[in-house]
Amino acid sequence: NKTENQILVIFGASGDLTARKLVPALYNLYVADQLPDNFVVLGASRSDMTDTQFRNRVVLESSYLKDKIKDQDADYINTFANKFFYEDLGGSYDTDYQRLRTRVEDLKNKYQTSGNIIYYLSTPPTLYETIAQRLADAGMSTQNHGWKRLVVEKPFGYSLETAQQLNKGLQQFFKEHQIYRIDHYLGKETVQNLLVTRFANSIFEPLWNRNYIHHVEITNAEKVGVEKRGGYYDKSGALRDMFQNHLLQIVSLVVMEPPISDAPEDIRDEKVKALKSLRIMNDEQTLFDNTIRAQYTSSVIDGKEVKGYREEEGVDKNSTTETYAAIKFFVDNWRWKDIPFYVRTAKRMPTKVTEVVIHFKTPHHQIFKDSGVHDKDNKLIIRIQPDEGILVKFGVKVPGQGFKVERANLDFYYSSLVETHVMDAYERLLLDAMQGDATLYARADEVEAAWEFVDPILKYWEDGKDVRMYGYASGVWGPENSNDLIEGIGEWRNPGPN
Ligand code: BG6
Repeated sequence: NKTENQILVIFGASGDLTARKLVPALYNLYVADQLPDNFVVLGASRSDMTDTQFRNRVVLESSYLKDKIKDQDADYINTFANKFFYEDLGGSYDTDYQRLRTRVEDLKNKYQTSGNIIYYLSTPPTLYETIAQRLADAGMSTQNHGWKRLVVEKPFGYSLETAQQLNKGLQQFFKEHQIYRIDHYLGKETVQNLLVTRFANSIFEPLWNRNYIHHVEITNAEKVGVEKRGGYYDKSGALRDMFQNHLLQIVSLVVMEPPISDAPEDIRDEKVKALKSLRIMNDEQTLFDNTIRAQYTSSVIDGKEVKGYREEEGVDKNSTTETYAAIKFFVDNWRWKDIPFYVRTAKRMPTKVTEVVIHFKTPHHQIFKDSGVHDKDNKLIIRIQPDEGILVKFGVKVPGQGFKVERANLDFYYSSLVETHVMDAYERLLLDAMQGDATLYARADEVEAAWEFVDPILKYWEDGKDVRMYGYASGVWGPENSNDLIEGIGEWRNPGPN
């Protein structure tokens, strides 16, 4: 696909995300010759900065680009840096955008970018609607002379109600097909590979249902704590920060029915159906039995003392915000009836890993009774990160007398595909938005369906009806009783290196 000429306007351009993710992604696209011929980036925010200061900040002196550009020719880097411009909004996003409009027009004429514009909102979410409205007021959302797209960062809403309000608010000024809601997990190669594994092969899909699958386990573990984001995180928690968006996106790809084609709306229609089929937990007993939350406490990791969650900067000393959340749920549809899903996400775990484990049922008639295999079920493991790949665990005979069975691995790792450049999530997502492909962006109804599932759990926790808030020492796999949730099934697979 050739990307059309366009302008990328980044709101919140002086923030961390621009320098840390967006500009490095644009640089990779520049190196891969994927940027349009006529393309400029206009940063906009409340700070006072010149074009030169902005270029220095996000390109020439950026610590996030330093390693990438250090051996490059100065002209080559300057050509990239010179695509960046800056417009000071004068202290507020809630202001008249006529000056911004004039600036965009000037850049458009000077650099022949055409009237195609992406507005990328990387500001606090409370400003999304204001900015959309101000753009519309200034006549900058109309599609008359070129398309206009609005990309919004997470978090998208704080609850079902606020997500609905935000959708409604944005849709007053931009049409749904112009709105791109980022979920960076969808930009991850192995997340997309879930679709290919399922629908480009004939060996998995026939087994992908309640007849053959025993349960599904999804783990998202991070080694880091809340880092410098204590203030934000304490109002959010693991369920809002990771589960409502990234993990339910993964769930939807595992659960969905085959789409009729790979067209964005065909895929998104199936994902919405999948999310709508999650059994909503409404009564207190179900919520009590199927959810666990916890917070990390201080400990020593890699020989270094780390703070407990409540001691982190920006976190309330008596905080009841969870840094660990594990949820068991069912999917009420033909394919998945009564098959449990176990999904957990946490910070300060022993390692960083995200994986989906499909546990198959054991053969219904076991003839090798004393096989000696403890870990009996067949597993298909989709490693989303860090070592992206697909692993199949199955039984083989141990050579020699009798029928001893041993676990064997059929493992595929992306790293074995030599010379494959695995695109960073932001690189992929930005390019998709530039090309108008919304497949990997969340649609309004998708986001709302995810909130509908999460809302009752949040309410249950936040209303204080569930007084359980466990602790776990930083660097272990969650609270001691984390296996309670998975009782009768076994234990969580606490994945180390494979
Ligand atoms: C973000 C969360 O969306 O995802 C962070 O806000 C989290 O808290 C991050 O650390 C994890 O992303 P990744 O790509 O490192 O798994």
